[in-house]
Amino acid sequence: MSSNKSSARHPSPNPRLKAKKQQKKSSFSILRLVATFVVPYMAFLLFSRSGFFKKTLQRLGFSKGKSASTYVDGLPTYFTLPSGDKIPSVALGVWKAEPADVKGAVKAALEAGYRHIDEAWAYGNEAEVGEVIKASGIPRKDIWITSKLWNNHHAPEDVEGAIDESLSKLGTDYLDLYLIHWPVAFGKDGKLDVKLTEDPYPTWKKLEEMVEKGKVKNIGVANFNIRRMEELLAQPLKIKPAVNQVELNYWNPQPELLKWAKEKGILLQAYSPLGSSDKVKETLELPEVKDVAKELGITPAQVIISWHIQRGTVVLPKSVTPSRVVENLKVTALPQAAFDRLEKAATSHEPIKVLDPSPHWGVDLWDVKLKK
Ligand SMILES: NC(=O)c1ccc[n+]([C@@H]2O[C@H](COP(=O)([O-])OP(=O)(O)OC[C@H]3O[C@@H](n4cnc5c(N)ncnc54)[C@H](OP(=O)(O)O)[C@@H]3O)[C@@H](O)[C@H]2O)c1
Repeated sequence: MSSNKSSARHPSPNPRLKAKKQQKKSSFSILRLVATFVVPYMAFLLFSRSGFFKKTLQRLGFSKGKSASTYVDGLPTYFTLPSGDKIPSVALGVWKAEPADVKGAVKAALEAGYRHIDEAWAYGNEAEVGEVIKASGIPRKDIWITSKLWNNHHAPEDVEGAIDESLSKLGTDYLDLYLIHWPVAFGKDGKLDVKLTEDPYPTWKKLEEMVEKGKVKNIGVANFNIRRMEELLAQPLKIKPAVNQVELNYWNPQPELLKWAKEKGILLQAYSPLGSSDKVKETLELPEVKDVAKELGITPAQVIISWHIQRGTVVLPKSVTPSRVVENLKVTALPQAAFDRLEKAATSHEPIKVLDPSPHWGVDLWDVKLKK
């Protein structure tokens, strides 16, 4: 009834005219949709990708913090140290990054979301790294900086001066982590100081003092084997080493050291994770690595870097190639079967040390106890 009534009042228009009207109406609503949603969205995308937007967010304190990398998919974005500090699980390593190249690498890293730089006095590029960090506008508290005490600064009276030099070059007043770079001490004459090499406790005590003074937040070691770690831990330490930074890669995966460190609550950091410049090509060509990469649709480098984090270590890939820097941060949890396959392959062959300066320094760094 009612429909009849209405049709009586509003006679139906010509059907062609009606279709035309409707067409006009729908193209008008598409235009309206584009103007209301798509254009502002595109404008926001463009704006949000601009450096100005990122810097404004950082200044307002909304930047990604030390522990908030959004790139880490299904893997821990950080590990917590005994101090309570959260160390990001991926760092940019800068060894062998020439001063001219390192600036571009650190800039690319910070823009990609890295908040952890692995430095050392001996790398000779602390000033350049400090410059880029400062120019980034990212608050100091949001970037984790590690540096290391070189072999010729182990004498307790030399430690603070070495730290001050690194602080000044990096343009900061504290380091998040400071490591004894090698269990090797050189004397003032440049020769091996056997006593301080075999007993680094005097150096360690000075590092503890540096924590008390606030110049460094966390302290640790690098290149210490289990024997050296146990001997250091047997001393009356006020602060235990928070980390041990060691060579860990497919060639030298050190499962015993990893197990031991986990039991002791000492975090390992994987250096030369891709096999360093000497063996990176070979690493990325390994059939197991290539298979997993294909299966997951990620790159071989991403497979290896993810594997390290999944083993429970911080990982320190180095690259001065901006596209690789970005690639190396995009890690993802590996399915258990893929992880087990890589772990088995890495731990089933005879270990090969990719980096071993023992012959050069005249010290067996790994096994033999030196005579005092
Ligand atoms: N505590 C210690 O005694 C110690 C010793 C060694 C290293 N470390 C630390 O660990 C960091 C890393 O170790 P590392 O430099 O020996 O070795 P690495 O990270 O295993 O390998 C670096 C090599 O891999 C290449 N690379 C990086 N990403 C790649 C990718 N996605 N695809 C293909 N190639 C890629 C780099 O080339 P490009 O740079 O040309 O891109 C470079 O040749 C050092 O920078 C340092 O911070 C510490």
